[in-house]
Amino acid sequence: MRRVVYPGTFDPITNGHIDLIGRAACLFDQVVVAVAADTHKHPTFDLEERLALARGTVAHLTNVQVTAFSGLLVSFAEAAGINVIMRGLRAVSDFEFEFQLASMNRRMSPHIETLFLTPAEQYAFISSSLVREVSRLGGDVSAFVPPEVRAALRERFG
Ligand code: COA
Repeated sequence: MRRVVYPGTFDPITNGHIDLIGRAACLFDQVVVAVAADTHKHPTFDLEERLALARGTVAHLTNVQVTAFSGLLVSFAEAAGINVIMRGLRAVSDFEFEFQLASMNRRMSPHIETLFLTPAEQYAFISSSLVREVSRLGGDVSAFVPPEVRAALRERFG
């Protein structure tokens, strides 16, 4: 069975993430969306909220599973028996960080490959932090996130 892990903070999940998950779901038998418990960011949504929002919004994709992980990503992938990590590349500016991440992960686990996909162009500028900021300042984020995420943002920011 071909399986891939798609890791991230998902604070919160956006249409851009969902676009990539849908693409991976066509390429692999199973996609494991791995929501990071340990993050240097200070998430707006706690782990349980980020998991619930991700699960709710990918429920229509039957070969996608959402789970939490802590510790090293490569350790999680190895324990799950997965040897492909998927990451999104939206613009050249993503490349440097992603190259470092992929190289470090390869150094730690040489048999795990990192695969990059690009989202549909209408999602290329979306990021979770911009979505949070627009929502916090009263803007409309309905083009960027699914309705349940929009509702959760509204509840959080009033
Ligand atoms: N659509 C919309 N937004 C996207 C996107 C897409 N397709 N792809 C990335 N983004 C955005 C995210 O919204 C996020 O934006 P923000 O920073 O403004 O909130 C940003 O790009 C990156 O977030 P994400 O893809 O969720 O990744 P991350 O950088 O938060 O996660 C981990 C990084 C969790 C994968 C990494 O830290 C990790 O592996 N941690 C585990 C510990 C470990 O192994 N460390 C050693 C690594 S070498």
